Formats: sequence, C-alpha cells, structure tokens
Amino acid sequence: MNQEKGILFEKSYQESLKEKFFYADADPDHGKRIFLDNSGGSLRLKKAVEAKCAAEMFPDCPERIHERSLYLKGLVEEGTNEILKIVFGAKSGALITELTASQTMFQAIGTILENVKEGTNAVTSAIEHPSAYDAMQYYCDKTGRDFRVVPANKVTGGIDADEVMKYVDKNTCALSIMAASNISGNIMDIAEIARRAKEINPNIYIISDAVQHAPHAIMDVEALGVDVMNFAPYKFFGVRGCGFAYVSERVAAMKHHKLLAKSQNVWELGTSTPGNFDAMMEVIQYVCEIGKDAGKTGDKRELFQAGMHRIHLQERALLSRMLDGTEEVPGLRQIEGVHVYVDTQDITNRDLIAAIGIDGIGFTECVAEYQKRGITVYERINTSVYSKRIVEALGLEGAIRVSPMHCQGEEDIDQFLRITKNIADKFKR
Ligand SMILES: Cc1ncc(COP(=O)(O)O)c(C=O)c1O
Repeated sequence: MNQEKGILFEKSYQESLKEKFFYADADPDHGKRIFLDNSGGSLRLKKAVEAKCAAEMFPDCPERIHERSLYLKGLVEEGTNEILKIVFGAKSGALITELTASQTMFQAIGTILENVKEGTNAVTSAIEHPSAYDAMQYYCDKTGRDFRVVPANKVTGGIDADEVMKYVDKNTCALSIMAASNISGNIMDIAEIARRAKEINPNIYIISDAVQHAPHAIMDVEALGVDVMNFAPYKFFGVRGCGFAYVSERVAAMKHHKLLAKSQNVWELGTSTPGNFDAMMEVIQYVCEIGKDAGKTGDKRELFQAGMHRIHLQERALLSRMLDGTEEVPGLRQIEGVHVYVDTQDITNRDLIAAIGIDGIGFTECVAEYQKRGITVYERINTSVYSKRIVEALGLEGAIRVSPMHCQGEEDIDQFLRITKNIADKFKR
C-alpha cells in the first residue's frame, strides 16, 4: 500500500481512541474546543492519569518490606525496565529520571562533558530546544571547550547530515542533534548523522533530544547509535512531573550524581515516584494495543513498534489532509493569505506539526482569534526566550504551531481548516 500520504484509522476506531483521553473535545469549564497544541503537552490518556492518581493514594514508602511497599517498588522496577526496553529499544544502559526532560538533558550532557577528558569542542544545532542547547553551551564553558552550532536548513526546517559534518572533527567529544524539530516537525536522520560522526571520531558521544519526536514515531537507541535520548511523558499522552532519559552503558558507568552506596547504574536520587512509572506503563500498553494486529510474536517491543508505526501513518494522513485539504475544504497550502513555513512536498520525514502564518494578523493576535473560534494553538515567536533563537535560525519571526495528535480525526482537521479560512478572509488586506 502507498504510505506516502499516510493511512487513516477507521473512523469508529479513531473515535474509540479519542474516548480514551480526557477533555479531548472540550475543556470542562471553558467549553468545546479542538486541542491542537499537543506539542506543548499532549491530551492525557485517562488510564495514565488514573494510574498516577491510584499510586499516589498510598502512604507507603516504596523502600519498605511491607506488601504495599513492595507493590509500589515493583512499579518502579517494572516501569524502568519497560521504559528502557520497550520505549527506547535499549539492550543495556540506564535510565535517568528527573522532574523534567530538560533536567535529564543537563544531567546527561554534564556527565559526559565533565568525565570525558579528550576532545576540544562539542557540537549542537541552532534549532535545539534550550534544554539541550544551553546544557551544551554551559558545559562547554565549564570544561573549556569550543561550542559549535550547526545552522538549520531554512528550506526544510531540519538539520542536514552534510552540514553537521562540517562542524564535527576528530576533536569533537559530543554531538547533540534533536530527533525532530518542535517547530517544523522535520525528522532528522540521526542514524546517518551518528554513523558519519563516528567515522570522523569513533569515540564521539551522540545525544538526541526526542521530546518532540517520541509521541509520533518509534525511538530505537540501538539502531540510531546514540548515547543519550530523552522524552517527556506529558507530551507523550502521559503525566506531568517527570522526564526520562536513556544513557548508554559507557555513559551509565561514568561518575555522576548518585548516592555513593548505590550501584553504578543507578541515577535516581532519593525516593522514586511509582505513579510516574505506572502512568508510563499505561501509555506503553495503549500503544501496544494499537499495534496488536501487526505483532507476530507477541513480543512487547514489537507490539509497541507496530503501534507507533500505525500512529505515525494516521498522523501522516492527518498532516496530508491539513496541508492539501479535500474537494470540500481547502488545505493550508491552498487558502489565500495562509503561509506554511518550512514546508516540504514530501511529508514522509515529518511529524504531525505545521508552522503557519496568516497575512494581516500578528501571531499572538491570531492565537486569540483561533481561541475565540474554539481552536487551541500556540505561537512560537522571536520575543519568547524559548523560541527566539530557533525561529530566527529558520529565517522566521515566528509561527503559529499547529500540532494535532493521532486520536483526532478528519472532522477536527476540517474544522480547523474552515476556521483558518475564516480568519484569513477576515484579515485579508
Ligand atoms: C524538543 C523539546 N525538548 C525539550 C523540551 C523540554 O521539556 P521539559 O519542559 O519537560 O523539560 C521541550 C519542551 O517544550 C521540547 O519541545
């Protein structure tokens, strides 16, 4: 089957998936709205929130020998194992857990740059989220290394392997490139970037921020050849209050913040939060159920992979519809006065995000116009500390970021398109 334009879920199936999320079509106090800001924090899987809530009800410390404590401890152990093996596809290594994904990135990059003595420079890209970018710059300053920044491809919104290699040399100790852009949705060829960087310096450490990419496609740290990869559960159908990162065996073994009496592979400091792990296991289960028909052996990683692949195809079909519309409803590319930034005809290496602008209206005002009409989107602009460097690196002043997710359907996209046309018509010059 031709998958270039994706494959939609059957309508009833898509609706049944949407049912599994809280407040999918309406805010309980502010009424009906279509939530298209999933890059800022995705719709929440009911079972994940309930699992977190259920674990929080128990007073027991997970470090005791009582039955309930052992149960809670089991959630942490099982969750750690599943996040590493099923979500990241890791065969070895360790898990960093923190309150946020940004903290995991600082921990991982700091550990690498402070432990590795060789190498006089480190490389990242101009479109990284501040967590990865600032961590790299901070630790380059601290360890006296040259901080190098690869410019973005302003046409695709991505980072090209050829360009990266101009900045990597045999003295590059670490290279950090995000798995997908949180503005354009462009997916980077991390496997190729890692492979070619290792040809230049076989000892290089490869880091990839997958916070944007994780809810849209499979992560596979072994196939990609990365030493660090992270994600944020609250952007991956789950709960707020935690960030997870995989670190490879060689990074796990480095001297890092830990209680001295604990084994070298332990990165968690203090008492763990069992509910965070149980919530993530519900997300994993949900994805595996989507993949259940494709799995041949019943192996959980295989089911998860199949589920994420199916999600990716559904999202590609939604992206295609959003860009090109239908006979009845014109797409973003066709509506007069609407611009799709860093747009590529081929959408097979894009996650479900569109960065747009509308003539005659500023980004912030436009977000408010959408909100009035029942659509939640957000702007990424050059006056925000989070997005200034990134949008400017793409040659933009800003963009409205439209980020639906797989459980939403054709009607959601069509309604968004009708409203976009309505706003574009109203502000036509
Ligand atoms: C690509 C990317 N990386 C990292 C982060 C940081 O996540 P957190 O706020 O959980 O630390 C974000 C959040 O927006 C992101 O989009």
